[in-house]
Amino acid sequence: MLPEITPLIAGNWKMHKTLAEARALAREIRAGLDPAGTVEVAVAPPFTALAAVAAELTGSPVGLAAQDAFWEPQGAFTGAISPLMLQDVGCRYVIIGHSERRRHFGETDAGVNRKAKAVLDQGLRPIVCVGETLAQREAGETLEVVSRQLRAGLAGLDPVQAAALVVAYEPVWAIGTGRTATPAQAQEVHAFIRSLLPEVVGNAVVRLLYGGSVTPDNAAALLAQPDLDGALVGGASLQAASFLKIAAAAA
Ligand code: PGA
Repeated sequence: MLPEITPLIAGNWKMHKTLAEARALAREIRAGLDPAGTVEVAVAPPFTALAAVAAELTGSPVGLAAQDAFWEPQGAFTGAISPLMLQDVGCRYVIIGHSERRRHFGETDAGVNRKAKAVLDQGLRPIVCVGETLAQREAGETLEVVSRQLRAGLAGLDPVQAAALVVAYEPVWAIGTGRTATPAQAQEVHAFIRSLLPEVVGNAVVRLLYGGSVTPDNAAALLAQPDLDGALVGGASLQAASFLKIAAAAA
């Protein structure tokens, strides 16, 4: 990690948690967080729980994140949620282009680009996800795929706004599979992303998160790599104890 970068540990709750469960998890995370901590922590509940979790987190340093956003501020877009609404409910971050959205909901790099711009225009911070499938890794295409996703997903971003950008490298084969990238595999792609970003978004310092089966057992070794600035955590973020251990490993 570069010394000027504050690590970010973000929990992606995906399609989990009723209101009561979400409130309880937010309370536990808030209560268990090291008050002297040097790590930024954020949680991304489902849309239905954002307001309730925002209320639980009022006055705490834990950031609120959404799992997606549409690019229009308002209008006839049934089922969609806008960056304006997410700002209104208290979000600081918005996950964009998660591989599950790409796979199950047809998200494209062009859509990711529109969403990232809309999120930045609203003063929120996009966490833009990229990553290769197992077939692409085995075909030796990892860096090419990540480069294509970044160049298209981040094209034309305002270099000043880009300071708010977060990029998450999440190899698809490591998400929810228990099969984590090794620290060396993660570092290789992170270093590549770090070297590519000035070309794509200018000289802003962008935080690079790793995601894919991060657990309390593997977090420290991953986060010790020089170009990992934090983690996007799925399964292990659904319980306060494991999520807090990962946050502690980033300190
Ligand atoms: P996982 O999910 O930690 O359950 O693998 C990570 C993610 O999809 O962000």
